[in-house]
Order: sequence, then C-alpha cells, then structure tokens
Amino acid sequence: MALQNCELSKELLHSQAYIWNHIFSFINSMSLKCAVELQIPDIINRHGSPMSLSKLVKALGLKHERTHSVYRLMRILVHSGYFVTQCVSTIPGCKDEEQGEGYVLAPASRFLLKEEPLSIRPFLLAMLDPVMMDPWQHMSKWFKTEDVNPFHTAHGKMLWDLASEEPKLNQLFNEAMASDARLVMSVVLEHCKGVFDGLDSLVDVGGGDGTIAKAIVEGFHGIKCICFDLPHVVGGLVGSKNLSFVCGDMFEVIPNADAILLKWILHDWSDDECVKILKQCKKAIPSKENGGKLIIIEMVVKVHKDENKLLETQLFFDMLMLTEVKGKERSEEEWVKLFVDAGFSDYKITPVLGLRSLIEVYP
Ligand SMILES: C[S@@+](CC[C@H](N)C(=O)[O-])C[C@H]1O[C@@H](n2cnc3c(N)ncnc32)[C@H](O)[C@@H]1O
Repeated sequence: MALQNCELSKELLHSQAYIWNHIFSFINSMSLKCAVELQIPDIINRHGSPMSLSKLVKALGLKHERTHSVYRLMRILVHSGYFVTQCVSTIPGCKDEEQGEGYVLAPASRFLLKEEPLSIRPFLLAMLDPVMMDPWQHMSKWFKTEDVNPFHTAHGKMLWDLASEEPKLNQLFNEAMASDARLVMSVVLEHCKGVFDGLDSLVDVGGGDGTIAKAIVEGFHGIKCICFDLPHVVGGLVGSKNLSFVCGDMFEVIPNADAILLKWILHDWSDDECVKILKQCKKAIPSKENGGKLIIIEMVVKVHKDENKLLETQLFFDMLMLTEVKGKERSEEEWVKLFVDAGFSDYKITPVLGLRSLIEVYP
C-alpha cells in the first residue's frame, strides 16, 4: 500500500514538473526577446572576447543594482544555448579584476545580431510583439465564436487589414518577412539555382518589400521580376531595370510570367482560398511544355525520425497560422490535393530549406 502511494506521489510530482515546464515555456522566448531588445548579443559581439558580467552591465548602461538580475537573465539564456560562459582569465594580458567567467555568443545568437545580414532578429521582434501575442489570450474564446481567427477576436480585424491601417505594424511585419527572405534566398541561390534556369520572367506573389525579387534579379541577369503585393506593402516602392512593383489582389488577377513564386503565402490561407490563388497562378503562367511553373517555399509537415523538436516547430507554425491568419501547415498529401484541385499535373518537392521545402508545381 505504502509502495503504491509512493508511486502515485512520484507520478503526481512528475506531472507537476511537466506541466510547470509547459506553463513557463514562454519565459524562454520572453527572456530572449528582452536580451535582443537590450542588444545584449550585439554588445557581447562587439566586445570581441569573453565579457564579464560587470562589463556587460556597464555597457548596457544599467544601474549597478541590476547586476544580479542581468546575471539571472544571462543564466537562463546560457541554459537555453544562446550564450556560453568562458573563463575571462584565459585572455592574455587581462587584468586581475577581470578574472572569472565571461559571456560569448553561442552559434545561434550570431543570427540575432543587428548587423548580421541574415539576422532573424526582425522576425523575433515581430512574432513576439504584443499585436501578435494578444490573439493567443483569445484563443479559447475564439473557439466559441464565429470569428475567422483569434487575431480577429483580439483586434476586430484581419492581420492584413490592421497592417494597412497601422504603418508601424506594416513595417514591423514587412521587415520580419524581408529578414526571412534574405536567409532563405541565400540558401536557394547557393544550392537550388537550377530552379530558375530558363526563366525569362517571374512574379513573386505576396512578395513583401521585394527582397526576394531583388535577389533573383541580381542573381540571374536577364530575368524580369515583378514583386506583387497589396497596396500598403508595395505602393510607393521604386523598381529598377528588371524589377517592378505591382499592387493588386492575388484572388482577382496575377500578372503573367514564366514562373510564379509563392513563399509563405499558401500557409496563410484555407484550402478553398489556396485553390483560388493557385487557379489564378495557373492562368498567369504558360504550359509545362513552354516552361511554366510555380515555385513554392513552404513547410511539408512530417514526422522527423529522432528529431522531435523539428516536428514540434512545424506544429508551432501550424498553430501560429490558426491564430494569426486563416491557414495551416500541410503534409505532402494535403499539398497534392490542393495542386490537383487547382488543375496542376505534376510536382517535385526538394527538402533543402531546413524545416521548409522548395516545391515546384507544373500545369
Ligand atoms: C507571410 S507574408 C510573406 C511575404 C513574403 N512572400 C516572404 O515570405 O518573405 C504574406 C504576404 O502576402 C501578402 N498578401 C496578403 N493578402 C494578399 C492579397 N490578397 N494579394 C496579394 N498579396 C497579399 C501580404 O501583404 C504579405 O506581404
């Protein structure tokens, strides 16, 4: 009997620890956001050698009384793998008062630097902004309403409509997308240049501020690119010789081209809406024989053997789509159904973009 009680207590306490861990998971992201807002990665990077706590506090311009709090913030960020502690005294010529531990960047925090060309910082700041976080507080309420998504329950309108009214949100969101576009295009242009072979023209549908279109124009001399997006995104943007900005609604008409690029567009929309967008795309490109195709950059959800965190991150994105927009992350079967329903005949998935894939779809 006592043994049974002991097992029950163990299970109870194990469950409590498990639930606590989930309750407070947000502390990982919020601590990271705080460090990024304080520019801690940039300060440590500029220092160029392990940075002691006292020097970090000084460089942050904080009062001495905050020292222990900075230590605690850094401790959790060391634990979650963003910084590493190293012995300060290993630096040749260091003074006695610098003895002890100092902080250096771990590999991931390089991508949180302001000046890093492939920085993920703008994406972090947008996704953890209160505008994007508030909808999560409304999720259970949303389930019982007729609202389109929790974002609508929280803000009374859709993300794109709010962005069109609030320039600060528009800029925050577009910068976040541009930072991801830079990162993805650096990989695409390095490893998948062949997807653009033979193309004379391309439309980047929902192309944001044109980061992708610019990269293609610069990487492939001769390709004419159109960055197509809503008026509040591309209105007023100035093109160049082979790059133009066109505003419009992809549900109504899409400019003609050899190929259409859709990066992080279809995951924003329901299956029915995706079929509508895909049908508009099909109208805008030539036949497969004449080189017409879609180039889609999206997740293909699957169980990654021995890599539970990868699936978890894909599921995070799926919930993000449910909460902020009207879409979802799709499995290969779900993608194929959309392509078939929109009248496309063939597709090829190349899983070269980490959690995302490059999907070529042919009319
Ligand atoms: C998730 S963002 C992706 C931006 C960009 N493709 C990227 O991945 O960096 C979705 C984009 O679709 C645009 N968009 C939303 N509704 C649209 C519509 N009806 N017609 C054209 N673009 C639209 C948004 O303004 C936004 O720039």
